Amino acid sequence: MSLNDQAIDILTGNDRGGYTIPTKGLYPYQWNWDSAFIALGIASYDPDRAWSEVTALLDGQWPDGMIPSIIFRSDDPDYFPGPARWGKTPGAMPSTGVSQPPVLASVVRQLNAGGSPAEIARMREVFAPIMKWHRWFQSSRVMHGATVTTHPWETGRDNCPEWNIGLDQMAVAPDLAPYVRMDNKHVNPRFRPSQEQYDKYLTIVQRGEEMGWDQNRLLHEGPFLMADPTLHFVLLRANRDLKAMAEILGEDTAEIDTWIASGEASADYMWNDALGAFTARDVKTGAFSTGFSNASPLCFYADAGTPEQRGRIMENMKRIAGKVRFMLPSWDPDADAFEPQRYWCGPVWPQMNYMVAEGLARAGEVEMAGRIREDLSAAIRQSGFWECFNPLTGEGCVGNNFSWTAAVWLTWHGPQPLRGAA
Ligand code: DGY
Repeated sequence: MSLNDQAIDILTGNDRGGYTIPTKGLYPYQWNWDSAFIALGIASYDPDRAWSEVTALLDGQWPDGMIPSIIFRSDDPDYFPGPARWGKTPGAMPSTGVSQPPVLASVVRQLNAGGSPAEIARMREVFAPIMKWHRWFQSSRVMHGATVTTHPWETGRDNCPEWNIGLDQMAVAPDLAPYVRMDNKHVNPRFRPSQEQYDKYLTIVQRGEEMGWDQNRLLHEGPFLMADPTLHFVLLRANRDLKAMAEILGEDTAEIDTWIASGEASADYMWNDALGAFTARDVKTGAFSTGFSNASPLCFYADAGTPEQRGRIMENMKRIAGKVRFMLPSWDPDADAFEPQRYWCGPVWPQMNYMVAEGLARAGEVEMAGRIREDLSAAIRQSGFWECFNPLTGEGCVGNNFSWTAAVWLTWHGPQPLRGAA
């Protein structure tokens, strides 16, 4: 069977009727940014079904505009922490109490890039809810102008060593309710976050639940608060795409313009001059993270950063490209805590390669963009459609038959490559 057919098989096999799970067993619900990338992949062979992926995600929106990281349409005992642990949440469906990188606006724009009357009608259908979500980010996740997070899970880069400086500042709740991890029953624990990290993730969930998921309290009184280049640059890019949609729809862009201006200006809050990279930063202490991550070059995707900053990021990427067979590792191989097989401590992530390659190509860095794209394609050819890949060997890590890996493959190699795909 061709790789295109295998990818389509994975996406149809993970289809739960209108929405798609990331992979069976390990992740049995609808995840936020997974679904956005999945929609792009499905669009290469079934545009109508791609659209339902987008609208199903909006079904989980909270009254305040937040779109949560996971929507629990059922209670699956195979996953922890499920709806019982997150407690009562204000949306129409049970969910987590944190969000995820908001790629949806960029995906909607790309899905409807032709601008036909039907495509414009679809944009109109989702414009207001996405605008509301972006407004939620401004009110609930911006400090010093930078986009911040209250939980590593919200960044999508769960156990990246970027978060260690923030996690080291917090204690595990003495009253942490006992729990049994399920992730390590599905996959080898050497691929997954440590137990101490899990205790801290669950501590933040417990505090959020005790606060009734009051996002203002979580922001100001929660145990963890870090500025995140993933959220910041994905949101900035999404605001640019939302503005383009507003112009097509004849909507006022003044509010979005202020978000874009502040997103551009405040990226400097995360500029780590010692490393020559945008990195996470602990808002409570002001300390910077200690390594180059695959979120650092998302400034290209967002079209942000000065020429000098971009130059230093390119130098870092060239150094790293000399150390690994497969670009782009999620954590610097020269930094402490690099582990090539452990989730966000080193592996190559398909959706990150997709965004970074797209940004680099737009910026004229075609050689590095090509390497990042080719290396992921080669890892998939070698090992199959895994959640992520060891950057030294190309071995597949964590979940197999993974939806966003199939989706990214299809956006690059699928039956009808999308207009504007990297
Ligand atoms: C998990 O369960 O590992 C997820 O990444 C949390 O969203």
